[in-house]
Amino acid sequence: MTKNWLFIGLAGIALIGCNSGGDQTQGVAATSGDKKLVVGFSQIGAESAWRTANTESIKGEAEKRGVELKFADAQQKQENQIKAIKGFIAQGVDVIAFAPVVETGWEPVLREAKAANIPVFVSDRRPDVPEDLYVTFIGADFIKEGEMAAEWAVKEMGGKATIAELTGTTGSAPANDRAKGFRNVIGKNPDMKIVFTQTGDFTRSKGKEVMEALLKSPQGKSVNLLYAHNDDMALGAIQAIEEAGKKPGVDIKIVSIDGVKGAFEAMVAGKLNCTVECNPLLGPFLFDAIEKHRKGETLPKRTVVPDSAFDMSQAAAELPNRKY
Ligand code: AHR
Repeated sequence: MTKNWLFIGLAGIALIGCNSGGDQTQGVAATSGDKKLVVGFSQIGAESAWRTANTESIKGEAEKRGVELKFADAQQKQENQIKAIKGFIAQGVDVIAFAPVVETGWEPVLREAKAANIPVFVSDRRPDVPEDLYVTFIGADFIKEGEMAAEWAVKEMGGKATIAELTGTTGSAPANDRAKGFRNVIGKNPDMKIVFTQTGDFTRSKGKEVMEALLKSPQGKSVNLLYAHNDDMALGAIQAIEEAGKKPGVDIKIVSIDGVKGAFEAMVAGKLNCTVECNPLLGPFLFDAIEKHRKGETLPKRTVVPDSAFDMSQAAAELPNRKY
């Protein structure tokens, strides 16, 4: 009797191992019978309106497709994400998906997932790991976003500006790439000068705090353009600019990234000049990719979700169409 149970148990474990499919490039057969697909998703946190929309998109899409989603919020801490991924491995989920808070430090835990035969899907931000450790990476081109913000800025300012930059989370792909993209373009315009750059960690409160301090400093007096790596930091900075008795959008022109509703409202109010959209609605892309992989289709290593820029003149017409 005991022996039979042991046999059934071991067979079951072997079956789970086969179905989960850890080969990061080959497809895997769909789970048979009524067993729900189990996906472990490690989310960065809830630092911005963009992130909230991203979480809702992933949870909503999982529900729509009848996927069992094990969702873990890491509160912006890499150690929490690593713990969550290890937990998913221990639970033997079918698929792991995650949005890496920073670029580096993922290789050991992704090797553990590979050894456990669990395919990994990367959402939103790029991890700096060999490509064989994940199936596919779906997200925006952050360098392009920085370039688009700078192209708008050069045109708007006539090639001459004193710029403050609020950067995203230190070490994150969007902070690195949006800084790089912006410089790719303004580097060709010698009178576009970045005089201040500091992290606001992608949050509204930090954006406000950093801008407040800047405006109190002698350096802050000359700034006439703010480039914020996301809308939340720009919205915090707008508050700080108003409290300092200046007019955001006029005395200090502002360009930021994400395209959330709050940014469109600020543009309609004349307080923000331009936002570059970064689509957070990645749920359908992610679960389509997971389904394709399970059907045995080969996926590209990279799927770029396209972005576009909106300025003040388009804001009122576009606001009713915003989904996040
Ligand atoms: O990784 C995407 C970025 O993360 C968004 O631009 C920002 O708002 C979020 O926190």
